[in-house]
Amino acid sequence: MIPFVDLSRQHAALRTELLAAMARVLDSGQFVLGGEGRALEEELAATCGVRHAVGVASGTDALRLALTALGVGPGDEVLTPAFSFVASASTIVMTGATPVFVDIDPETYALDVAAVARAVTPRTRAIIPVHLYGHPAPMDALAALARRHGLAIVEDAAQSIGATWAGKPVGNWGDAACVSFYPTKNIGACGDGGMVLTGRDDVAERVRRLRHHGERGRYRHVELGYTSRLDELQAAVLRVKLKRLSEWTERRRRLAALYRERLAGLPLSLPVERREARHVYHLFTVRHAQRDAFAKALADLGVGTAVHYPLAVPNQPLFGGDERRFPEAWRAAREVLSLPCFAELTDDEVEGVAVAVRQACDRL
Ligand SMILES: Cc1ncc(COP(=O)(O)O)c(C=O)c1O
Repeated sequence: MIPFVDLSRQHAALRTELLAAMARVLDSGQFVLGGEGRALEEELAATCGVRHAVGVASGTDALRLALTALGVGPGDEVLTPAFSFVASASTIVMTGATPVFVDIDPETYALDVAAVARAVTPRTRAIIPVHLYGHPAPMDALAALARRHGLAIVEDAAQSIGATWAGKPVGNWGDAACVSFYPTKNIGACGDGGMVLTGRDDVAERVRRLRHHGERGRYRHVELGYTSRLDELQAAVLRVKLKRLSEWTERRRRLAALYRERLAGLPLSLPVERREARHVYHLFTVRHAQRDAFAKALADLGVGTAVHYPLAVPNQPLFGGDERRFPEAWRAAREVLSLPCFAELTDDEVEGVAVAVRQACDRL
């Protein structure tokens, strides 16, 4: 059996260091807004090349608080891809604004820039480019369009820490960017966590306030805020893992290169890496016209896979159900399948997956 993902391998390798980090926090008696969180914020900001990093409770809260910090709220429209994890749209609703879905480029799953341009109205306030699966959205074109229309950009970098577009790391293109530390992400907590990255002093200051009850000065609350801090245990764990991030990213890229070699010529579409992009392969997602049968054949051959995502966002019951205005998003939801791709996966396992994929293709 080759698992889709196996965190126990990573944690076995880091066990001593992780337990020491956790013990340090336990002994400190400080669990919220302490030294570990501050250190992680500084280290992550340096890693991503941004001025500020503000730890929050999840990637979802990173998006929600960044949007609110930028002034997005009732009456505003925010453009977001029709194909992503639900949080790229639900967080817009949480601010009181309206998500406006835009179809995707079927090769990279990123926002289709021409469709974004067509979707802008006088009420449009912001764009959320999602760097899905670890492949960056075309940020030069999107940033130019945003500038032309006076729109804010919040990058959804939940799956793409370390990726670059035109040589510039994600998180550096927008007014703010969100990172998720969900356990299976390229750098994952032992629980939930997230970070807002921003070059803007005003946005960083406001997110810091929003994550802690809108507090400015001890027990003085100047606006509606939330309990959304990144706790010290998670920050300590993440500091251990951050030291390995670039090595893990290289490994993911190596696995992707190996898959490309072994899967060449088969009747399925492999991920595209645009010339301007450095993909970090959070997921290695292929497409097959008979996706469900293909996934079943792989499961029968002992290979774990997953579907990211089985419904386009506008088709989620939350957003009203059966919506066919976004044909590429709709088609992607029927065809995508993610193969095992995590830093601890061995070359032999990739070979094993490739053999199984070949057999599964033959059977269909
Ligand atoms: C594209 C995308 N956006 C946002 C999120 C939300 O992050 P979290 O699960 O940390 O709230 C995720 C994570 O699952 C994601 O994949």
